[in-house]
Formats: sequence, structure tokens, C-alpha cells
Amino acid sequence: MKKFKKVLKGERIMLRFLEPSFEIAKIVFETTSRSRKHLTPWMEWATEKGLQKAEQTFAFLQGCKNGYEKGTQVDYGIFLGKKHIGNVGLFDINEKYKSAEKGGWLCPEEQGNGYMTEAISLLLKEAFEEVGLNRIQSRIDEKNTKSQAAIKRQGFTYEGTGRQTAFIESENRWENLMTFSILKNEWMKKNK
Ligand SMILES: CC(C)(COP(=O)(O)OP(=O)(O)OC[C@H]1O[C@@H](n2cnc3c(N)ncnc32)[C@H](O)[C@@H]1OP(=O)(O)O)[C@@H](O)C(=O)NCCC(=O)NCCS
Repeated sequence: MKKFKKVLKGERIMLRFLEPSFEIAKIVFETTSRSRKHLTPWMEWATEKGLQKAEQTFAFLQGCKNGYEKGTQVDYGIFLGKKHIGNVGLFDINEKYKSAEKGGWLCPEEQGNGYMTEAISLLLKEAFEEVGLNRIQSRIDEKNTKSQAAIKRQGFTYEGTGRQTAFIESENRWENLMTFSILKNEWMKKNK
């Protein structure tokens, strides 16, 4: 399978592969730290405990790079000019079945401008048209309507809901995760 390119250019944003350097770790740590309250309802890693120091972000970036080298994941920073506004990527990339799962977030002040929609489009284009994946899924908390809307805008199909699939400790509640997916032929038809 081909490797994902390290830079994907959109009309307004740019996706840059998150290299494990201290400089990038400091930037990502700063964005995630100030977005913490907005992320914790949905993302387990974004707790105070998980975001204490930039060294934790550096370790995360090293894991991302290892995953990229093994071909199991790809993680991009979303940049608006020089400003880092969030991340988007794929994990659990399965070379045999050509499938993967999508994840991502934006800092709160840059929501509502379509930047995640643009980021997901760039990612799907690369995944389906260049790398050769066939299926991408996204599992989203049934309460997370903004994330569901971003996925539906791309033409993902709702497949079903897994009851109590994950546990959000910061909120002391189980998550019912809705599964959505898009296939290569659906993407090609929509974007021809
Ligand atoms: C999920 C998340 C990324 C969605 O952010 P978002 O800004 O709503 O998503 P988009 O970038 O696609 O923007 C869509 C919004 O911008 C508006 N918009 C403006 N210009 C637009 C454009 N050119 N294209 C598309 N939408 C545009 C849309 O109308 C929509 O606004 P609305 O919510 O008021 O209807 C964000 O809420 C987030 O980071 N949440 C916390 C983390 C999280 O939940 N991650 C996902 C876990 S599964």
C-alpha cells in the first residue's frame, strides 16, 4: 500500500503530518491544553491528567510516527496559515482489508467555519484516490451532533449503534457509539 503524503493542501487549510519534534509537541500541547474543556466530553485522552505536560504530547507524536512507519495510522495537524487549529487522521489501518477508522478535533474558536469538513475531504481523497483504501468508518457518541454532521456532509452512511461501547471517565458515563462508514465507490461517485 502507498504511504500517505506528509502534506495535503486544501483551499483554506493545510494538513501537515505530525512529526515527533519538541517544537511540534509544544504547538500541539498548547492547542489541546486550551481546548481541553471542549474536548473532554468526547475524547478520553484530553483530561487534565492526560494533558499535564508537553512531554506527553511528544510521546503521543512518537506513537503516531511509529504507526505511520508500520502503516497502521496517519495523523495530521490542521493548520490555518501558521495556526494549529486541530488534528485529523486515520487509525487501525488494515492493509489486507483496506479499511481504517477516522478521528479528529478542532479548537473551539475555529468551529463553525467548515474547516473539519475540508480536512476530512482532503484525508478521504488521499485515502481513496492515492493510497487505495476501500472503507473508512467513524464511531461517534450519539450525543455528539456536531461530529455526526461533519461526517454526514461527506456522505457517510449510518450502520448502527454499539451500546455502552466506551466509558468516558471524566463524565462518569458510558458512550453509545454510532458507526458511520463510506466506501471508495461512494466517494468516487460523489466526487467525480
Ligand atoms: C466535531 C468537530 C470537529 C466539528 O466542528 P465543526 O466546526 O462543527 O465542523 P466543520 O468544520 O465541518 O464546520 C461545520 C460548521 O461550519 C459551517 N460552515 C461554514 N462554512 C462552511 C463551509 N465552507 N463548509 C462546510 N461548513 C461550513 C457549517 O454550517 C457548520 O456550522 P453549524 O454547526 O452551525 O451548522 C468539533 O465540534 C470538535 O472538535 N468537537 C470536539 C471533538 C470531537 O467531538 N471530535 C470528534 C470525535 S468523534
